[in-house]
Amino acid sequence: MGGAETLASLRGFKDLLPEEAFKWRQIESAAHAAFAAFGFHPIGTPLLEPAELFTRSIGATSDIIEKEMYAFDDWDGRKVSLRPEGTVSVVRAYLTHHLSDSALRKFYYIGPMFRHERPQAGRLRQFHQIGVEIIGDASPKRDVELLALLDDLMQRLGVNGLPLTINTLGCPECRPSYRMALQFYLSGQSDLCVDCLRRSAVNPLRVLDCKKETCREAVRGAPSPIDDLCKACQCHFEAVRSTLSDLGLVYTLNPHLVRGLDYYTRTVFELNSPALGAQNAVAAGGRYDALVALLGGPQTPAIGFAIGVERLAALVSFPQQPDLPLFLVPLGENAARRLFPLLFALRRKNLACEIGEETAGLKAQLKRADRLHATYAFIVGEAELNTGVALLRNMRTGTQQTVAIAQAADILPDVCTPVSSSSVIPPRL
Ligand code: HAM
Repeated sequence: MGGAETLASLRGFKDLLPEEAFKWRQIESAAHAAFAAFGFHPIGTPLLEPAELFTRSIGATSDIIEKEMYAFDDWDGRKVSLRPEGTVSVVRAYLTHHLSDSALRKFYYIGPMFRHERPQAGRLRQFHQIGVEIIGDASPKRDVELLALLDDLMQRLGVNGLPLTINTLGCPECRPSYRMALQFYLSGQSDLCVDCLRRSAVNPLRVLDCKKETCREAVRGAPSPIDDLCKACQCHFEAVRSTLSDLGLVYTLNPHLVRGLDYYTRTVFELNSPALGAQNAVAAGGRYDALVALLGGPQTPAIGFAIGVERLAALVSFPQQPDLPLFLVPLGENAARRLFPLLFALRRKNLACEIGEETAGLKAQLKRADRLHATYAFIVGEAELNTGVALLRNMRTGTQQTVAIAQAADILPDVCTPVSSSSVIPPRL
């Protein structure tokens, strides 16, 4: 009576329970393998950064900067922010540690991001991204390499055929004339929402991204950046498109695709899943050839993408967490004393096993083994200690075999190891 009320987690912040966490580990495992094959190196950046890092680079009129950053003054009075995304931090790390001097320029990261968005299915305030960045390469081949990597990873995860949409946003040379053309078009539209009326003056590309039906209708006939590309951007985009086709990578061109972050130049893309409802972007990215310079570095082209792990996990189906291969059943204190060292010897050999309570009877221990989905139970009591031989029971079939207790540490790993449970999952970064 009168216990403290259990506190729930914050809205938009979710616990990751073991079954889902196990699926995530498998997704991460596939990602580590794909990134290694494509020559990417892991990188980690802090969750908390100077807020200015993001305000300077993501765009003053972007939703993230206007209303979504978890920014606050820390105890030193410095304005800091939980990272809303990973790209800017990777570029900061690249500059801070002079990584341009090394041969490293392909990076990947996996971790949480924070945006104060309105939570709904597939949209969280703490969500997780698997992201990649290639810094220092302007070739359209890199654009295609990233899209091939995304495709490869989806195939590894059994998520095939998601529609890929691409577009180009031009560069600082051709963007101004497109901006003007778009502004001119928007000035003739009377049905824009209040936000878009403001945006059309300061950042008209944002209007193309508005989700309100009236705005979507209003921009249907808007000009596309493709109409105003300079020669270099035109060549770049054509090379991207033809190489995608050469590789058989299927895409749709959406001439109104823009992104919620302002640092993009040239190629932008999104991978969507109709199965996800309103929040259907599984992955998104693009070129950001001006960002490194914007953050104080030399002019350096770059490109990347990030996958939303929660959204991806909703599309992936894996076998459940593997069953427990072995449960040791000690009947009495002497048996427990004999089985306890065996427990650790087996675990050292990577055989996952648990042990019952010697004070409980056979039935209770087998019930516990069953609840843990144990495949085998190794049952040792006084009689078995005397003969030196004990029963290994297959919990599924009910069949039993005898195993010499003295050889159990060598025999049981061979008998009990399921084929699929041996993959080593690399650590989360
Ligand atoms: P973004 O489009 O803001 O891009 O996010 C990338 C992906 O993260 C989205 O497609 C979505 O799957 C997931 N995501 C974003 N916000 C949420 C949310 N509130 N809840 C759940 N999932 C979410 C970026 O963040 C860029 N940094 C990507 C990039 C990397 N561009 C170049 N390099």
